[in-house]
Amino acid sequence: MKFRVYRYSPESGLKPYMQEFVVETTRGMMLRDALLAIQEQDESFAFRHSCGDGVCGSDSVNVNGLNMLACTTPVAGLRQPVLVRPLPGRPVIRDLVVDMSQFYKQYRSVEPWLKRQDPLPEHEVHQSPEERDKLDGLHECILCGCCSTACPSFWWNPEKFLGPQALLTACRFLEDSRDQAAEERLDALAGPYKLFRCHSIMNCVEVCPKGLNPTKAIGRIKAKMLKGSL
Ligand code: FES
Repeated sequence: MKFRVYRYSPESGLKPYMQEFVVETTRGMMLRDALLAIQEQDESFAFRHSCGDGVCGSDSVNVNGLNMLACTTPVAGLRQPVLVRPLPGRPVIRDLVVDMSQFYKQYRSVEPWLKRQDPLPEHEVHQSPEERDKLDGLHECILCGCCSTACPSFWWNPEKFLGPQALLTACRFLEDSRDQAAEERLDALAGPYKLFRCHSIMNCVEVCPKGLNPTKAIGRIKAKMLKGSL
């Protein structure tokens, strides 16, 4: 099977280019296996990966124009030659490895931890099954970055617009019955950029490997803001 992968090495002095490799495929082969086979042919080829099972989120790449995890993408069925590029909109460090600092910065900016005013109880803070259900579709994010790096609003304003991932996380804490900082969290998202730069393009929904819906989460935050302002 033919693959064309993005090559860029800052120390080579060469411009980025696509390099072709032929990989012998096996039954059930995932794209991560193919990238490892390419690495065997050229050990200077760089890409990130770790768990191999769709959990760590480190091997997100752009394949034939769509962001996805290499380890959960079967090569059978991919259009050939398979074009594998780094995630769009992020500075490339080398080959398929991009700098995700800005993405993590936006994630940290929503303060992704529970905040409470009440003194902590001796044991856990209880939550009813119904309250827990509200977190479904929000807590499963693996921070792979497929969504935010597929979002044109994030490409254009990565420092001002938080991006779908960070906003999904913001919603996850706003919906958590154990959190007591909703007002503060909503205030922090006010203004024209952080939240409202989302134009519901919905690329994030299309590419999320976990089937999450950041656009819907953003809508939930907007509804909370509106309710608070009435
Ligand atoms: Fe961990 Fe793919 S290698 S998600």
